Amino acid sequence: MLDKQSPVPIYIQIEEYLKNQILQGDFVIGVAIPSERELTESFGVSRMTVRQSITNLVNEGLLYREKGRGTYVATPKIEQPLNGLTSFTEDMLSRGMKPSNKLISFKKIIPEKDIARELQLDKDEEVFVVKRIRYADDKPMAIERSYLPVKLVPELDLATIEGSLYSYIEKDKRLVISHATQCMEAVLVKKEDAELLQVYMPSAVLMIERISYLTKGIPFEIVRSAYRADRYKFISEIRR
Ligand code: GLP
Repeated sequence: MLDKQSPVPIYIQIEEYLKNQILQGDFVIGVAIPSERELTESFGVSRMTVRQSITNLVNEGLLYREKGRGTYVATPKIEQPLNGLTSFTEDMLSRGMKPSNKLISFKKIIPEKDIARELQLDKDEEVFVVKRIRYADDKPMAIERSYLPVKLVPELDLATIEGSLYSYIEKDKRLVISHATQCMEAVLVKKEDAELLQVYMPSAVLMIERISYLTKGIPFEIVRSAYRADRYKFISEIRR
């Protein structure tokens, strides 16, 4: 199976082989792949080589390791389009997944200057700060910190925030969500978020900041979300 004369390094050949087994469904999601020792024996290579191939596939999100138990086939990442202004609830429902939230904190504060400026607030105007863990089929996907001007949603309460924020704004408040700007960067997860997202330290997360506007360009939210990089990939269609 391996071509020792090939210029392609052996660990990459093993990686490709394992990847094919995963993509063809020969290795099943959530089930352990053969152990390092078994792979070492069947390929006739060193354990270091096998470990390198597996590490690459773990880093790509195709496999995950469970300490002291083995290496398992990961659930494929969610492919999230970047083109539409959709809510987490809508995104999950459109995939047939069950969205849910866990509220971590809910406060009313006078925001820092940069938040106040982006939300076009005067010096002493307040915002709600909401921190939620977002789940899909009961698995943690992202943590979101949302800043919402109190004057736009003064009655916001715990019960509302447990559901969909966009549904509350559109259906209950009858406000019209118009557009948003977003920026995305890769960062290492913060310690407090690692526990909530159930990831090891250090892990990469995709940090997205969205500023969303109602009609007439009125900003109604700034959201900083940390998405699990092993559960998400973002896709966009681009045209020439
Ligand atoms: C996404 C966006 C957030 C937005 C949220 C609303 O997660 N990144 O900016 O606030 O959707 O979702 P929901 O209506 O489910 O609360």
